[in-house]
Amino acid sequence: PILPVILSGGTGTRLWPLSREGYPKQFWPLASDRPMLVETAARAEGPGFAPPMVVCNEAHRFLVAEQLRGHGARIVLEPAGRNSGPAIAAAALLAEEAGPGTVLWIMAADSAIKDVPALHAALGQAAAAARAGRIVTFGMAPTAPETGYGYIEAGADVPGLPGVRAIARFVEKPDAARAADFVAGGRHLWNSGMFVATASVLLAELERHEPAMLAAVRQAVAGAKRDMDFVRLDAAAFAAAPSISIDHAVMERTANAAVVPAAIGWSDIGSWAALWEISPQDGAGNATLGPVELVDARRCLVRSEGIVTGVVGLEDAVVVVTDDAVLAMHRDRAQDVKKLVEQLRAKG
Ligand code: GDD
Ligand code: MG
Repeated sequence: PILPVILSGGTGTRLWPLSREGYPKQFWPLASDRPMLVETAARAEGPGFAPPMVVCNEAHRFLVAEQLRGHGARIVLEPAGRNSGPAIAAAALLAEEAGPGTVLWIMAADSAIKDVPALHAALGQAAAAARAGRIVTFGMAPTAPETGYGYIEAGADVPGLPGVRAIARFVEKPDAARAADFVAGGRHLWNSGMFVATASVLLAELERHEPAMLAAVRQAVAGAKRDMDFVRLDAAAFAAAPSISIDHAVMERTANAAVVPAAIGWSDIGSWAALWEISPQDGAGNATLGPVELVDARRCLVRSEGIVTGVVGLEDAVVVVTDDAVLAMHRDRAQDVKKLVEQLRAKG
């Protein structure tokens, strides 16, 4: 069976004030009426899948255990986040215990995918390529020169593996000019943030490109305390691992990567603007949730967790109301919520 590995370590800063350090975005229902973590686990259920492994911050262990009750999840706890590279290294080392040929399906806990049958079809093609020794990504057709994604230049078809293409080049988070070139050129795909590979191939690539990181994580796994469903990585050893994403650590450097181009209705719920785009909208383009009243509003996202919230005469606005904070901004400034949160943090 395929082992689903869910990375749930992000903090979702740009979705403040809903997403907080203690309760980040993947634990909220955003794209549907179920939390994104639960949606993610549900995509990997059924025959053919082992119970999932979740890699998350120790602080979120009860949230994860509670939301995934009944899934039989194994929960790997990081004392502090070191980005996706070390998280994936830990998952690969633990998966190796079940056999080096175990195929891992690594997923972000915070993307929305509309077409699950198409996803599973692509996964079948990816798993075949993984068994043949590849690290496989899923390529999404780009719709804008976003700089927050990895860009995949698809190469030749891989013989004997239908739907699978080699990766000529992987560029993580290009600057705006390069991203524009990539989109205009028509040969690049976005990386979805999901990866399929065997434990042994992942470990071999980590050994080749980030030996110090792998050594630190190996020690953290060897010294881990295992109780019930929890695997608590050794704090001192894990802290010694350099903080690096899998995209920079392996995907930009490996010669073994492949891509399955797929139309699966994927979106990354990275910002309020992204959420507005995928939310159901009224005739004037407004997306609302909770006790919200609108008069002459257009293309707004208005969400209240409880108190009655009114908006009059605004266009392209985002208004988010929680128990203890309110966000009001122009939708074009959705990336700058990060600045706001940094400013708030600086004040303590
Ligand atoms: N356990 C754990 N620990 N998970 C982490 C950590 C960590 O320290 N850091 C990040 N993650 C998880 C996040 O929760 C998310 O599920 C996934 O790893 C990706 O991390 P992001 O921080 O969201 O990465 P990104 O969005 O900047 O870029 C990645 O995703 C894009 C698509 O959404 C890259 O893979 C890009 O190439 C890709 O296009
Ligand atoms: Mg992300």
